Amino acid sequence: MKLTGIFLDTGKIPEIRKYHELGIIRGVTTNPTILRKDGIAGGWPGIEKHCKEIAQLIAPHPLSVEVTTNVMAEMQEQALMIAAWAKNINVKITIHGPDGGTENLKLVHELENKHNVRVNVTAMMSAQQCLLAAMAGATYVSIFGGRVNNMGYNSCHEIRRIRGLLDAFNSTAKIIVGSTREVLNIVEWFEAGADIVTAVPDLIEGMLVHPYSKETVRMFLEDGARLQK
Ligand code: E4P
Repeated sequence: MKLTGIFLDTGKIPEIRKYHELGIIRGVTTNPTILRKDGIAGGWPGIEKHCKEIAQLIAPHPLSVEVTTNVMAEMQEQALMIAAWAKNINVKITIHGPDGGTENLKLVHELENKHNVRVNVTAMMSAQQCLLAAMAGATYVSIFGGRVNNMGYNSCHEIRRIRGLLDAFNSTAKIIVGSTREVLNIVEWFEAGADIVTAVPDLIEGMLVHPYSKETVRMFLEDGARLQK
C-alpha cells in the first residue's frame, strides 16, 4: 500500500507556502473553525478568494474546504460552488448533522457519483462511521484522532480497524487522520494505517527539529570554522 503523506491543517498562507516549499506536504485541510481563527473575512467572496489562492499555491495537491450549513439544499449548492473554484479542491461534508440527521451521506453519494465532486467526509470519531462514509463513495474519510483519544478511546486501534475494513472491502477511500495533538501522533497514525495525517505547522516543526541535531550541527560549524584558521 502506498501512503499519500502529510497534509497541513491550516488556512494560513505564509505557513502553507513555507511547508510547500520544503516539499514535505501533499495537501491542505481547512474547516470553518480554522478559517475563522485565521481571520478570513468577507463571507463567501472572502473565503473563495483565500481558498483559490491556497489551491493555486499547492496545485496539484488537494485542498479541503468545508460547507458551512447542514441544510440539505444549501449544502449541495455550497458544495458545487466550492468544487468549481479549482480542480484540486475537494468538499468537506460532516458525517451527519448536529442532531444526528442521517441525510448527509445521501449528498456525499450524489456529489461523488452524479456531480463528479471529490468529497472528504469529516468529523468522524469511529471506524464504523468511516466505513459507511467510504461505502457512500467518499474519496476521503477523516477521523479526528486527537478527539478520539480525548474521549478515552485509542485512536491507533480505531485507525487499524478502518484500514482493515477498507482493505477488506477493496475501498479506494483514503484515510485522513486529523485533530493532531502531539508530534508523536503523525508517525504513529501512519504506522496504524492512515494514508494521510493532517497536522498543524508547529507539530511538523516538532518532527523536524531535534535538540541533538542542533548540537551536532553546531559542532560541525565550529570545527569547520577552525579548519579555516
Ligand atoms: C481535519 O481535517 C480537521 O480540520 C482538524 O484536524 C480538526 O481538529 P481539531 O480537533 O483540532 O478541531
